[in-house]
Amino acid sequence: MVNLKGRDFLTLKDFSQEEIRYLLDLAAELKEKKKQGVPVDTLRGKNVALIFEKTSTRTRCSFEVAAHDLGMGTTYLDPKSSQIGKKESIEDTAKVLGSMFEGIEYRGYGQEIVEELARHADVPVWNGLTNEYHPTQMLADMQTILENFGTLKGIKLVYMGDARYNMGNSYMIACAKMGMDFVACAPKKYFPDQALVDQCLEYAKESGATITLTEDVMEGTKDADVICTDVWVSMGEPDEVWEERIHDLTPYKVTKEVMANGKRGAIFLHCLPSFHDLKTQIGEEMGKRFGLTEMEVTDEVFRSEQSKVFQEAENRMHTIKAVMAATLGA
Ligand code: CP
Ligand code: NVA
Repeated sequence: MVNLKGRDFLTLKDFSQEEIRYLLDLAAELKEKKKQGVPVDTLRGKNVALIFEKTSTRTRCSFEVAAHDLGMGTTYLDPKSSQIGKKESIEDTAKVLGSMFEGIEYRGYGQEIVEELARHADVPVWNGLTNEYHPTQMLADMQTILENFGTLKGIKLVYMGDARYNMGNSYMIACAKMGMDFVACAPKKYFPDQALVDQCLEYAKESGATITLTEDVMEGTKDADVICTDVWVSMGEPDEVWEERIHDLTPYKVTKEVMANGKRGAIFLHCLPSFHDLKTQIGEEMGKRFGLTEMEVTDEVFRSEQSKVFQEAENRMHTIKAVMAATLGA
């Protein structure tokens, strides 16, 4: 019997396949109830703190809507308005917030920060994205894959692009835990850290997953069920890296040809936000600087039937609700 009450949610490395499956089943149940208008406000009277040292649309809204649906109050701490890090240590912040709130979400930089927060707070701490991991995003992606294919086991998922950052790392862990075939398709210097690969190979022994790292786009994406990518430059990275990333990662753009190389019925996922056109400030700037019309994915693929990115975005809310419900208990 799975019981996650009181647990932190910092990386999927800390969770067994059974526990991840439990969260996905709970998310599906909560989604169904939401669709039917059945209220699930079992956490009424509790409050959660939402710390965002980096910006967000989906994660913040998911935590707020999910918390409110569960009957909880929320306090949002934006990247500028709190004392965290500048005037007050993570340890002191954890003790203060832990005494007022039943749970704390943290989005920010190094994984060690969210881990320190969790060590010093007596309440569950949830990772809303760090440089290294994005575990709540993984639950949403897994839920979307389940909704499209009915299974996770044996699904071939290919991640194209910077595979050594939060999204690439997290996909490799999630696939390794859930018995999937993971492929990181990128130039060698963007492959995930070898220590993490080794750890995932250990999970794979138990789950039946496979892990492949390749520079070859056609070989990597052949017969894929799921092809995913992410922005080429992540939040907090310096502006100077754009040129090199565009040069290195353009061959790994998700195009119609790449999607056609996957299985019939293959789907495209992206955590969003995405530079699939020039209708954003950064997109427009990069368009002008480098003569591009899109970056990690073509607008054609992004808007195609195969693209499930908005289903995936909606699932952020249902899965985050499941994480809070499970770790805070009824
Ligand atoms: N995918 C994701 O985490 O989106 P936000 O940055 O908008 O939260
Ligand atoms: N890799 C991206 C993910 C955004 C959800 C970033 O860290 O900015």
